Amino acid sequence: MSTQATSRGQWSSRFGFILAAAGSAIGLGNIWRFPYTAGENGGGAFVLLYLAFVVLIGIPVQLSELSMGRRTQRNAVGAFRELAPGSGWSVVGGLGVASGFGILSFYAVIAGWTLGYIYFAVAGRFSAAMSPDASGAIFTGLVGGVVGPIVLLAAFMVLTALVVQGGVQGGIERASKILMPIFFLLLVALAVRSLTLPGAGEGLKFLFHVDFSKLLNAEVAGSALGQALFSLSLGMGAMITYGSYLKKDENMPMAAVAVASSDTLIALLAGLILFPAIFSAGLEPAVGPGLVFVVMPQVLAAMPAGWIFAVLFYLLLAIAALTSTISLLEVIVAYFVDERGWSRPSAVWTVTLVCFLLGVPSALSFGGNGFFTNMLGGLGFLGLVDMIFGKYGLTIGALGICLFVGYRWGIKNALEEIGGGGHRLPAGAFWGFLVRFLCPVAVFCILVLVVMGRANF
Ligand code: PHE
Repeated sequence: MSTQATSRGQWSSRFGFILAAAGSAIGLGNIWRFPYTAGENGGGAFVLLYLAFVVLIGIPVQLSELSMGRRTQRNAVGAFRELAPGSGWSVVGGLGVASGFGILSFYAVIAGWTLGYIYFAVAGRFSAAMSPDASGAIFTGLVGGVVGPIVLLAAFMVLTALVVQGGVQGGIERASKILMPIFFLLLVALAVRSLTLPGAGEGLKFLFHVDFSKLLNAEVAGSALGQALFSLSLGMGAMITYGSYLKKDENMPMAAVAVASSDTLIALLAGLILFPAIFSAGLEPAVGPGLVFVVMPQVLAAMPAGWIFAVLFYLLLAIAALTSTISLLEVIVAYFVDERGWSRPSAVWTVTLVCFLLGVPSALSFGGNGFFTNMLGGLGFLGLVDMIFGKYGLTIGALGICLFVGYRWGIKNALEEIGGGGHRLPAGAFWGFLVRFLCPVAVFCILVLVVMGRANF
């Protein structure tokens, strides 16, 4: 069995792993979803709960996944198969691969819009005198089309496939090493610009002022936990897969903390870019998914040299999304390569084609096709896929992973793997408590909220 390791890829260094895993975690979830979800859930209270959940639930689940991956050096399904042969547990891994398909299919639709917006910004479509209606019309003009959204989806899928085809070191790690530094530079430039706008203080107050009555609100808590799982790329085996390419003596606890804290920091920084700019322009923060596509163009266009900042902003979004779609595709590809013996190129291009086809109805669910747009009482096809895979898939997956590590594979075995190379996890017993008790209970609670339709992430 151990000969398998030699034919699989491996990260060249801890830094390479951290960039790739942070690239997976940092995505539309941070820059598109986190700010508007915080906006809809009252700002500061949501942010505070989010931080608590990242530490108490996110990092423990992340370490569970990484340790399963590194111990077995297998994909999401193979890891369960190897640790519990002949049992039904590999279904959890299978659900992860299915979630990867589903999430990639709609994530790439939204990622495709960012490419359209880069083009709009370069072409000078955002003018300083643009009214909210005009900005809304540009958005609906793009997403409500038929050919446009499908072409952009295809373009994004091909970009993703080209990177994943290059393999772990030559593709994913190399792309992350180029893209992530550019991403950080863009982010800092935009945050400085936004925070120096007149009236930026209002935005800061919104993000950090805690309304204590909202802290005890189940919906706000459920949304914060769901968002934390999604944002850290947990519950679908992405971290099992990335962990399987990690060297045995690499410092796993440190790498995990580095990934989780950069993800959190970037979400907060995205808030620091969006809210000061939005308040300074006198616009509303709680406008849902249109926040970065409808409100931000107005904000950006009104700044001096705004078109340059607009290009930078949408480039930033596209890069963030690309390093995430890469990890989604890799989860599925690793499964077909390890478990089914496919070659990497045929796995990459077959999966890309299937995801594209599944993504087409999602691309048409913003007006391009009446049925896909209005189905299920306005949920739409994209909303349905997000519901099944992004909400049910990830929460059931995370629950399964906690139960598996906590009660089947065992905390002792997991801790031994996490501490490989002499990098013992501090407070290991507390980690075991979180994985066995707090995490499953908390994740089960959001599952209930999702079923009740009250978790809004
Ligand atoms: N974490 C990514 C984001 O925040 C999304 C993602 C979820 C990627 C699950 C991989 C797996 O955008």
